[in-house]
Amino acid sequence: MSSLSLLTPRSHHLSISLLLLVIILPLTATTAQESSLLEILRNHGLPAGLFPQSVKSFKLDQMGRLEVHLDRPCLAQYETTVFFDTVVKANLSFGQLKVLQGMSREELFLWLPVKDIIVTDQSSGLILIDIGFAYKRLSFSRFDEPPVCRSHQGLSFRMGGRKGFGFGDQR
Ligand SMILES: *[C@@H]1O[C@H](CO)[C@@H](O)[C@H](O)[C@H]1NC(C)=O
Repeated sequence: MSSLSLLTPRSHHLSISLLLLVIILPLTATTAQESSLLEILRNHGLPAGLFPQSVKSFKLDQMGRLEVHLDRPCLAQYETTVFFDTVVKANLSFGQLKVLQGMSREELFLWLPVKDIIVTDQSSGLILIDIGFAYKRLSFSRFDEPPVCRSHQGLSFRMGGRKGFGFGDQR
Protein backbone atom coordinates (compact mmCIF):
# COMPACT_ATOMS: atom_id res chain seq x y z
CA MET A 1 0.00 0.00 0.00
CA SER A 2 2.76 2.48 0.89
CA SER A 3 4.13 2.61 -2.64
CA LEU A 4 0.71 3.76 -3.82
CA SER A 5 0.97 6.91 -1.74
CA LEU A 6 3.58 8.18 -4.18
CA LEU A 7 0.72 8.91 -6.55
CA THR A 8 -0.24 12.11 -4.82
CA PRO A 9 -3.45 13.35 -6.44
CA ARG A 10 -6.25 12.28 -4.14
CA SER A 11 -8.56 11.24 -6.94
CA HIS A 12 -5.96 8.79 -8.13
CA HIS A 13 -5.68 7.48 -4.66
CA LEU A 14 -9.40 6.91 -4.39
CA SER A 15 -9.79 5.20 -7.72
CA ILE A 16 -6.86 2.92 -7.00
CA SER A 17 -8.34 1.95 -3.64
CA LEU A 18 -11.67 1.24 -5.29
CA LEU A 19 -9.97 -0.81 -7.94
CA LEU A 20 -8.13 -2.80 -5.28
CA LEU A 21 -11.39 -3.36 -3.45
CA VAL A 22 -13.04 -4.68 -6.58
CA ILE A 23 -10.14 -7.04 -7.19
CA ILE A 24 -9.81 -8.23 -3.60
CA LEU A 25 -13.47 -8.70 -2.64
CA PRO A 26 -14.21 -11.73 -4.82
CA LEU A 27 -11.06 -13.42 -3.52
CA THR A 28 -12.29 -13.30 0.05
CA ALA A 29 -15.60 -14.96 -0.84
CA THR A 30 -16.98 -17.93 1.07
CA THR A 31 -15.26 -20.71 -0.81
CA ALA A 32 -11.74 -19.48 -0.12
CA GLN A 33 -12.57 -18.92 3.53
CA GLU A 34 -14.27 -22.23 3.84
CA SER A 35 -11.55 -24.30 2.25
CA SER A 36 -8.85 -22.81 4.44
CA LEU A 37 -10.95 -23.49 7.53
CA LEU A 38 -11.31 -27.08 6.37
CA GLU A 39 -7.56 -27.29 5.97
CA ILE A 40 -6.97 -25.92 9.45
CA LEU A 41 -9.41 -28.42 10.93
CA ARG A 42 -7.75 -31.29 9.09
CA ASN A 43 -4.31 -30.17 10.24
CA HIS A 44 -5.61 -30.37 13.79
CA GLY A 45 -6.84 -33.91 13.34
CA LEU A 46 -10.43 -32.75 13.26
CA PRO A 47 -13.01 -33.61 10.62
CA ALA A 48 -13.63 -31.05 7.87
CA GLY A 49 -17.36 -31.04 8.42
CA LEU A 50 -17.34 -29.67 11.93
CA PHE A 51 -18.69 -26.37 10.67
CA PRO A 52 -21.47 -26.00 8.10
CA GLN A 53 -21.17 -24.75 4.53
CA SER A 54 -22.46 -21.31 5.40
CA VAL A 55 -19.21 -20.17 7.05
CA LYS A 56 -18.64 -16.60 5.96
CA SER A 57 -15.31 -15.89 7.61
CA PHE A 58 -13.14 -16.98 10.49
CA LYS A 59 -10.25 -15.82 12.62
CA LEU A 60 -7.63 -17.94 14.31
CA ASP A 61 -4.97 -16.44 16.54
CA GLN A 62 -1.70 -17.92 17.74
CA MET A 63 -3.24 -18.98 21.02
CA GLY A 64 -5.62 -21.21 19.09
CA ARG A 65 -8.61 -19.00 19.66
CA LEU A 66 -10.98 -19.59 16.79
CA GLU A 67 -13.88 -17.37 15.87
CA VAL A 68 -16.17 -18.51 13.07
CA HIS A 69 -18.79 -16.27 11.48
CA LEU A 70 -21.81 -17.71 9.69
CA ASP A 71 -24.36 -16.00 7.46
CA ARG A 72 -27.05 -16.46 10.05
CA PRO A 73 -27.98 -18.81 12.91
CA CYS A 74 -28.88 -22.24 11.56
CA LEU A 75 -29.38 -25.93 12.18
CA ALA A 76 -27.19 -28.68 10.78
CA GLN A 77 -27.99 -32.35 10.81
CA TYR A 78 -25.31 -34.79 11.90
CA GLU A 79 -26.44 -37.90 13.77
CA THR A 80 -27.90 -35.29 16.01
CA THR A 81 -29.13 -31.78 15.28
CA VAL A 82 -26.64 -29.04 16.02
CA PHE A 83 -27.52 -25.38 16.30
CA PHE A 84 -24.90 -22.86 15.15
CA ASP A 85 -25.17 -19.25 16.15
CA THR A 86 -23.89 -16.47 13.88
CA VAL A 87 -20.66 -16.35 15.85
CA VAL A 88 -19.01 -19.46 17.23
CA LYS A 89 -16.03 -19.05 19.53
CA ALA A 90 -13.80 -21.93 20.44
CA ASN A 91 -10.29 -22.91 21.46
CA LEU A 92 -8.63 -25.08 18.90
CA SER A 93 -5.94 -27.59 19.70
CA PHE A 94 -4.93 -30.90 18.19
CA GLY A 95 -7.88 -33.27 18.17
CA GLN A 96 -9.99 -30.95 20.25
CA LEU A 97 -12.29 -28.00 19.92
CA LYS A 98 -13.30 -26.43 23.22
CA VAL A 99 -16.44 -24.51 22.38
CA LEU A 100 -16.90 -21.33 24.37
CA GLN A 101 -19.92 -19.91 22.61
CA GLY A 102 -22.38 -20.47 19.80
CA MET A 103 -23.01 -24.21 19.41
CA SER A 104 -25.81 -26.24 20.94
CA ARG A 105 -27.09 -29.72 20.57
CA GLU A 106 -30.53 -31.17 20.98
CA GLU A 107 -30.71 -33.56 23.87
CA LEU A 108 -33.93 -34.92 25.30
CA PHE A 109 -35.91 -32.09 23.70
CA LEU A 110 -33.66 -29.43 25.17
CA TRP A 111 -30.94 -27.37 23.56
CA LEU A 112 -27.75 -27.66 25.53
CA PRO A 113 -24.50 -25.87 24.80
CA VAL A 114 -21.81 -27.99 23.21
CA LYS A 115 -18.74 -27.62 25.42
CA ASP A 116 -16.18 -29.79 23.87
CA ILE A 117 -15.60 -31.75 20.70
CA ILE A 118 -12.89 -34.36 21.00
CA VAL A 119 -11.52 -36.81 18.50
CA THR A 120 -10.47 -39.58 20.82
CA ASP A 121 -8.42 -41.50 18.39
CA GLN A 122 -8.32 -41.07 14.63
CA SER A 123 -8.26 -44.82 14.10
CA SER A 124 -11.32 -45.50 16.24
CA GLY A 125 -13.34 -43.23 13.97
CA LEU A 126 -15.12 -41.72 16.94
CA ILE A 127 -15.88 -38.20 18.00
CA LEU A 128 -17.02 -37.28 21.46
CA ILE A 129 -19.29 -34.34 21.95
CA ASP A 130 -19.51 -33.07 25.49
CA ILE A 131 -22.58 -31.09 26.48
CA GLY A 132 -21.56 -30.51 30.06
CA PHE A 133 -22.96 -33.54 31.83
CA ALA A 134 -22.82 -36.17 29.14
CA TYR A 135 -20.73 -37.32 26.24
CA LYS A 136 -22.18 -38.44 22.99
CA ARG A 137 -20.20 -40.67 20.67
CA LEU A 138 -20.58 -39.94 17.00
CA SER A 139 -18.83 -41.48 14.07
CA PHE A 140 -16.10 -39.44 12.41
CA SER A 141 -17.50 -40.21 8.97
CA ARG A 142 -20.63 -38.19 9.72
CA PHE A 143 -18.43 -35.10 9.90
CA ASP A 144 -16.55 -35.63 6.64
CA GLU A 145 -18.29 -32.92 4.68
CA PRO A 146 -19.54 -29.54 5.86
CA PRO A 147 -23.31 -30.00 6.15
CA VAL A 148 -25.95 -27.73 4.72
CA CYS A 149 -27.20 -25.49 7.47
CA ARG A 150 -30.94 -24.82 7.46
CA SER A 151 -31.99 -21.40 8.51
CA HIS A 152 -34.05 -21.40 11.62
CA GLN A 153 -35.33 -17.99 12.48
CA GLY A 154 -36.36 -17.46 16.03
CA LEU A 155 -34.71 -20.54 17.42
CA SER A 156 -32.11 -18.53 19.29
CA PHE A 157 -34.94 -17.00 21.29
CA ARG A 158 -36.10 -20.43 22.31
CA MET A 159 -32.69 -21.70 23.32
CA GLY A 160 -32.83 -23.20 26.75
CA GLY A 161 -36.54 -22.69 26.70
CA ARG A 162 -39.38 -25.11 26.70
CA LYS A 163 -40.31 -27.60 24.10
CA GLY A 164 -40.40 -25.68 20.86
CA PHE A 165 -40.44 -25.95 17.11
CA GLY A 166 -40.53 -29.37 15.52
CA PHE A 167 -40.00 -31.45 18.61
CA GLY A 168 -43.43 -32.99 18.51
CA ASP A 169 -42.76 -35.13 15.46
CA GLN A 170 -39.54 -36.61 16.80
CA ARG A 171 -41.10 -38.78 19.44
C1 LIG B 1 -9.23 -20.63 25.67
O1 LIG B 1 -7.98 -20.07 25.35
C2 LIG B 1 -7.67 -18.89 26.10
C3 LIG B 1 -6.36 -18.38 25.56
O2 LIG B 1 -5.40 -19.37 25.43
C4 LIG B 1 -7.59 -19.24 27.59
O3 LIG B 1 -7.32 -18.09 28.33
C5 LIG B 1 -8.93 -19.85 28.01
O4 LIG B 1 -8.85 -20.25 29.35
C6 LIG B 1 -9.28 -21.02 27.13
N1 LIG B 1 -10.60 -21.49 27.51
C7 LIG B 1 -10.86 -22.78 27.74
C8 LIG B 1 -12.26 -23.12 28.14
O5 LIG B 1 -10.02 -23.65 27.63
